[in-house]
Amino acid sequence: MQGNFSYHNPTKLYFGEDSLNYLKDELKNFGPVVLLNYGSGSVKRNGIYDQVIAILKGGGKSIVENPGVMSNPTLEKLREGIQIARDNKVDWILALGGGSVCDYSKAVAASVYYDGDYWDKFWLKQEQPDADQKLLPVGCILTMAGTGSEMNAGTVITDAEHTFKVGHVFDDRLMPKFSILNPKFTMTVPDNQMKAGIYDIMNHIMEQYFSDFDDNTSDYLSEGLMRSLIVASRKAVKNPQDYEARSNIMWTATWALNTLIGLGKREDWMVHMIGHSVGAWTHAPHGYCLAAVSMAYYRRAMKPGLPKFVRFAKNVWNVQGDGMTDEQIAEAGLVALKSWMLEVGLPLTISEIGATPDMIPGITGGTICYPAGYLDLKPEDITEILKDSL
Ligand code: NZQ
Ligand code: ZN
Repeated sequence: MQGNFSYHNPTKLYFGEDSLNYLKDELKNFGPVVLLNYGSGSVKRNGIYDQVIAILKGGGKSIVENPGVMSNPTLEKLREGIQIARDNKVDWILALGGGSVCDYSKAVAASVYYDGDYWDKFWLKQEQPDADQKLLPVGCILTMAGTGSEMNAGTVITDAEHTFKVGHVFDDRLMPKFSILNPKFTMTVPDNQMKAGIYDIMNHIMEQYFSDFDDNTSDYLSEGLMRSLIVASRKAVKNPQDYEARSNIMWTATWALNTLIGLGKREDWMVHMIGHSVGAWTHAPHGYCLAAVSMAYYRRAMKPGLPKFVRFAKNVWNVQGDGMTDEQIAEAGLVALKSWMLEVGLPLTISEIGATPDMIPGITGGTICYPAGYLDLKPEDITEILKDSL
C-alpha cells in the first residue's frame, strides 16, 4: 500500500430491523434540547416520525423541529436551520432522513457557533473549523441507502442562486456520533431514488478504486463490495421488498464511503464533480447525475488506466478474457457495467434527466476540475464529456 495514513472512525452504528430500539440508550449521551431535522414528509407518511418522537419524548428531550430539508439541500435552507439552532440554543442535532438530511445536519452542526461567513470558510475555501470552535453533536436515523453520509463527514450543499453545488468533507469531529440503520425504513423509498442510491454506492466505490496501480488491500475490499452490490441490486430491482437485498445495499452503502476503501489511495471523484454540477442544473437525483456522465467519463479513463480496467472486468464482472487483448477485456468490463446499469434502470445520458445542450457551458463552469484518478481534465474536456453524454 502506498502512502501513510491514520484511520479513525468515531461513528457508532446500530444496524437491523430492531435498531431504532437503541435510540433510547443513546439519548443519555446528549443534552436536553434536540434539533430534529427531516425532509418533505416521507417520515410522517411511513410512521417513522411518530416512533422517533415517542422515543425522544420518553427520554425527556425537548424537541425543536426543522422540517422541509429538501433533497440536495440549499444554502438558503442551511441559513434557516442555523438560525433555528441558535434561537433555540439546541444541544444536539438528530437527522431523520436520507443523505440530504444527514449532510444538512452536519452542515448546521459545523456552523452554529461560527461567527464569520460559514459558507465562505467551509464550502468555498474548504477550511476546517478551528480547534477551539464549538461543534454540535449529530446523530442520524437513516431512511435511504446511498450516500454513506451516516458514517462520514461529508456535507454537500447547493447554492441555488448561483446554480453551484459543492461538497465539503469536514474532519472527523463532524462525523455522526451514532447512526441507526434499519433496512426496513428504506422499503418506502421511491423506485427512482432506490435506483439512484444503488448507482451512488457503485460510483463511490469506483471513484476510489480507479486510481493508482499498486497492489492495495483497499482494492480487494472494493471488489467485494461491488460484487455484493451487483447481486443485491439485481434482486432489489425485481423485488424492492426483499429484505436481504435491501439490507445488503444499506450496509454496502455505508462501507463504500466511510473512508475505509480510500486508504492508501489518491482517489478520483471527477464523476462526482461533474455530477454535482449536472445536479445543480437539472435537480435530478444525485445518483442519476453520476450515472448519466459515467460511460463517457470511464471510456476516457480506460486508456491511461488500462491495467485497472482489466482487473475491474475480470474481478468484478467475471470477464474471462481468454484470447482477448487487454483493451478488449477492459472494454468488455465497461459493456458489462453498462448492461447492469440498464438492468437496474439508470439513465445513461444527461438528456434523460433534463439537461439540454444550452446548459453545457454552465455545467462546465460549475465543475471543479483537478488532476485525479487516471486523468487531468481541463474545462474543455468536461465540455466534451458532457456532449458525449447528451
Ligand atoms: O424529503 P423526504 O420526505 O425525506 O423524501 C426523500 C427525498 O425526496 C425520499 N426518501 C428518503 N427516505 C425515504 C424517502 N421516501 C420514502 N421513504 C423513505 N424511507 O427520497 C428522496 C431523496 O432523499 P435524499 O436524502 O435527497 O437522497 P440521498 O440519500 O441520495 O442524498 C442525496 C444528497 O447527498 C449528497 C448528494 O449530493 C445529495 O445532496 N451526497 C452526500 C455525500 C456524503 N455525505 O458523503 C456523498 C454523495 O456523493 C452525495 O454527494
Ligand atoms: Zn455520491
